[in-house]
Amino acid sequence: MDSDQAKNRILDLSLQINQHNYSYYVLSNPTISDYDFDILLEELIKLENQFPEFLNSNSPSQRVGGEITKEFKQIKHKYSMLSLGNTYSSEELKDFDERIKKIIGETPFEYVCELKFDGLSIGLTYIEGKLSHAVTRGDGVFGDDVTTNVKTIRSIPLILKEGNYPPEFEIRGEIFMPHKSFEKLNLERNSNGELPFANPRNAASGSLKMQDSKEVSKRGLDCFLYYLLGENLPFSSHYENLRNTKNWGFKVSDFMIKCKNIEGVIEYINDWNLQRNELPFDIDGIVIKVDSIPLQEKLGYTAKNPRWAIAYKFKAESVSTKLLSIDFQVGRTGSITPVANLEPVLLSGSMVKRASLHNADIIKKIDVRIGDMVFVEKGGEIIPKITGVDLALRENNAPEVIYIENCPECGTKLTRIEGEANHYCPNDNTCPPQIKGKIEHFISRKAMNIDSLGEGKVEIIFDCGKLNNIADLYDLKYEDLFGIEKSFIAEDTGKERIMRFMEKTVENILKGIEASKSVSFEKVLFALGIRYVGETVAKKLAQSFKNIDSIINASLEDLIGTEEIGIKIAESVKNYFSNPESISLINRLKEKGLRFEITEEENTTVSNKFEGLSFVVSGVFEKYSRDQIKKMVEENSGKNVAAISAKTSYLIAGDNMGPEKKKKAEKLNIPIISETEFLALLNE
Ligand code: IVH
Repeated sequence: MDSDQAKNRILDLSLQINQHNYSYYVLSNPTISDYDFDILLEELIKLENQFPEFLNSNSPSQRVGGEITKEFKQIKHKYSMLSLGNTYSSEELKDFDERIKKIIGETPFEYVCELKFDGLSIGLTYIEGKLSHAVTRGDGVFGDDVTTNVKTIRSIPLILKEGNYPPEFEIRGEIFMPHKSFEKLNLERNSNGELPFANPRNAASGSLKMQDSKEVSKRGLDCFLYYLLGENLPFSSHYENLRNTKNWGFKVSDFMIKCKNIEGVIEYINDWNLQRNELPFDIDGIVIKVDSIPLQEKLGYTAKNPRWAIAYKFKAESVSTKLLSIDFQVGRTGSITPVANLEPVLLSGSMVKRASLHNADIIKKIDVRIGDMVFVEKGGEIIPKITGVDLALRENNAPEVIYIENCPECGTKLTRIEGEANHYCPNDNTCPPQIKGKIEHFISRKAMNIDSLGEGKVEIIFDCGKLNNIADLYDLKYEDLFGIEKSFIAEDTGKERIMRFMEKTVENILKGIEASKSVSFEKVLFALGIRYVGETVAKKLAQSFKNIDSIINASLEDLIGTEEIGIKIAESVKNYFSNPESISLINRLKEKGLRFEITEEENTTVSNKFEGLSFVVSGVFEKYSRDQIKKMVEENSGKNVAAISAKTSYLIAGDNMGPEKKKKAEKLNIPIISETEFLALLNE
């Protein structure tokens, strides 16, 4: 094939594939078999490899991802991304209606009602019909550039169909994870020994922020568009504009309607309150907008929200069922969670058998007793919660719940930290679920990433007595693992099955453990499972202190002086390293060759200019985003702190900075500098 033929074929294939994508993902009406689709895509990828000069950044081949984003670039929104005011009752909606009428007077107007998709908002900018960039909400002024990841979402057009679109415009919408994709993802995570996502919203947001776009492309994300912005829009009605964008290739919900008055709006809300569980994705309310764009402009904005739109949030669905018994679970940090076993009941589309009872105080407060009829609600967590008791139905002599005093797993007397709601089992060295939990956390993907140990393998090795702490992993030999087994009841068949470690499994486990020795310091620090030291805190500690010895020797003040680290985290870190067991564990891990300092490349320090200085960065800036300014502080050895104290060196003040911060800085005589002054200080 010569160059011209290749160019034409690439164009032809791209058009065909775009059309099939549109039919499948936007219209839900497939026009080709998966097999034939794959053949077209393969041909396109092959040709683009052969003739890279014709590879276009908006080619449908880019949907499979591949590009890695180390850090998302921050982009300033052309139009600030505001959120909506919330209402919870028809009275509040009527107030909203009154406020509007007060401003616009007698002018007749209509409302548009839309579903409130529960995901994360995205702004898509198209220039000359091509997707130029996709930006998250961020702080409303600056957002993350997630274009590469967004391109993997098949329902978002990369190139628009023919139409009357303006040369440049932005369209906003919600990226979400449909229930089907969510269930598939959590099944996979469970079998990899990873923690499942609590809900589709968290899953969507976690997926969109992944660094590897190839992984994002597998997550089954979707996107509904709900707001067209820009100059020279085709219609002066929001409804018409949005409906018209369907012709350009966008996915707009068919459930959007126009209402003549607030009574119509309330009817729509009531209908969807009943029907929402039948949708294949989550909604958390209804959005109500004034349809006319000139009227929207007249109504304008408050500091935070448009006056022409509002969100009605659904109340969480609640059902009642019988409390059969209470289990006490021990987590990896030793924290005890009381879990209620319930008579199975249908709630928001799924069968619920267990619910969280939070802690001893809440059990006491709601005075729940075995045999009670209890109210169960689904919040943002995976496991639903009990919110109250139907006292009218209580049996006469139902006994009070007696909270356990000893660990149900190892018998150790439980403790309770002053000011904390949870009880803890303090025996973190030999309490089985704590050891297993710590090892499972240690090997997890975001920590040491030893995925060959997933799928319950840790439990098998632990049960054989070969693993008592994380350092033991690095002593495991082939002979320790080969042939060990465990029988369990298979969930699908209900029959007993035996899992036995054979040659390949053992080799993979050992290979995975060996490879983990090159995992970065910040991940090792996170993997240790220190209470309150999550991924972000571990990253901050690693960047600020550079190696483990500096962290071990840091004073409480040194730790608190680090961004993101407050007294609670600092005390937990101090506490962990003051335990001789932790130090001997770390020494063993050091001997095995794990990384306990950041490498040259990971060291982002550019200069020591701000050494010993601490900064509070607040407000919105002109040239850089708040995060970029904080990064500059850190790169030059300064410390970012959240709150102003007498020790703060500078307050870098942007627009809309909190008035309290300003007052406090003035009171303490802390110099308040602008973005320009900060940059001058940096370049001095
Ligand atoms: S309109 C200026 N419409 O809900 C109007 N938002 O705080 C901007 N959302 O941030 C929003 N479905 O992420 C609009 N049909 C819909 C929506 C919707 C979901 C989200 C959006 C926004 C939040 C409201």
